[in-house]
Amino acid sequence: MNSKTVYIKTYGCQMNEADSQRAAALLWPAFEPGDSPETADVVLINTCSVRDKPQQKLLSELGRLRRIKERKGSMIIGIMGCVAQQMKDEIFKRAPWVDLVVGPDGIDDIPQLVAEAQQGQHGASLRLLRHAPSLDRSVEVKTQRSSALVNVMKGCDKFCTYCIVPYTRGREASRPPHVVMDEIHNLVQQGVFDITLLGQNVTAYGNDLSPRTNLNTLVTNILKEAPSIQRIRFITSHPMDTKDDTLELFALPQVATYFHLPLQAGSDRVLKTMGRGYTFRQYMDIVEKVRKIRPDVAMASDFIVGFPGETREDFLQTMDAIETVGYEGIFSFVYSPRPFTKAAGFEDPIPRAEKLVWLKELQARQNEITQQKFADMVGTVQPTIIEGPSSRDPNEMMGRTSCHKVVNLPLPKSAIGTMIDVRITEAMSNSLRGEAVAPDADQ
Ligand code: SAH
Ligand code: SF4
Ligand code: F3S
Repeated sequence: MNSKTVYIKTYGCQMNEADSQRAAALLWPAFEPGDSPETADVVLINTCSVRDKPQQKLLSELGRLRRIKERKGSMIIGIMGCVAQQMKDEIFKRAPWVDLVVGPDGIDDIPQLVAEAQQGQHGASLRLLRHAPSLDRSVEVKTQRSSALVNVMKGCDKFCTYCIVPYTRGREASRPPHVVMDEIHNLVQQGVFDITLLGQNVTAYGNDLSPRTNLNTLVTNILKEAPSIQRIRFITSHPMDTKDDTLELFALPQVATYFHLPLQAGSDRVLKTMGRGYTFRQYMDIVEKVRKIRPDVAMASDFIVGFPGETREDFLQTMDAIETVGYEGIFSFVYSPRPFTKAAGFEDPIPRAEKLVWLKELQARQNEITQQKFADMVGTVQPTIIEGPSSRDPNEMMGRTSCHKVVNLPLPKSAIGTMIDVRITEAMSNSLRGEAVAPDADQ
């Protein structure tokens, strides 16, 4: 008999990616991963509500799933993630064909809720817990890849005035180091040697644990206890709790040369109304310090354009900031008012069309800066993890540098899952081209 399958579709941040992996691991072996909603017995949609109109998107997706469910006769549909937490039982009212609704703290209830749905019951797990069970329970994620995500914290306490995350994910809480270590040992045994530690504010790791600990201690212990790890990253860092001991991590050769440190805006006035807790000067102090420790570190950031009350002059300070920092890449978005947040009640006189013009301006300039950074890498040799066939040419392989850039190069399939030295030969618009450096070649 064929085993049953679960299809999981994930939107949003890497926290959601990690939650989806956890759900898949908890449902295994009763449910194998499936590759389409048409054939799966269980379909889980893991949602994000950080911007735009995720409710509308979800409801139209649910319409599609309803038709598939009717055609097949039976299928369990579950909604997970931040929109689930935000809409709660309203999902059942608007879409009664949904069987389960699970917030970010309810992942561990999914197997039980699926079992109940098989008996024809609707169920929900929507409490936000100060101490979610997933914090203390390690899960054995199955993987054939060399890279993996490991969640080390949940929630956020920062309450930036624009952001829904503290309402959908609850308070900051760290997973104890031994739980993180258990998950890492399981991954390392399967051949993983590239780890990304995840948290909405990973730099706050350990503040809530007793005994208190921090990210520096966690990372150094991981590298001591799992010496086969060749690369480790942590995202996302918050400038407010990025201390010297976090920056010192960049001196370790295994720590990736990639630092995602969201600035959000270049104007101190806007940073203040956002409630970010730092000025541009304080942010630059961190950038300057980290570059002293690791000059080749690639800086990355998130930006919000058109925050309520932001003027053209404020925006131009964001334009100056990307110049001053010299980011390798940014994620930038037009401000989107979100339920529960303070900024949703702020005066917002600038029309969206104008904000979109600003956003285009920011992105166009950043593209030029990014292009220059890519071009600067031509001729250098980069340790590169080969992830799999290239999306452009299946006869070539795709890898990632320590600064998280994509490199395409001719290599046999047997190279997948290895780390090799690659000489960068050409900069394309969004990726690099390179060639493998023979181990005994002169450099
Ligand atoms: N914890 C992380 C980011 C979480 S959300 C941090 O503090 O950096 C990811 C990004 O979405 C944010 O950095 C921000 O740039 C963007 N974002 C969050 N709320 C938004 C909103 N209401 N409108 C537009 N962008 C938003
Ligand atoms: Fe949202 Fe701010 Fe928390 Fe990041 S730090 S998740 S932007 S409230
Ligand atoms: Fe989205 Fe929730 Fe992540 S709102 S960005 S999935 S924390």
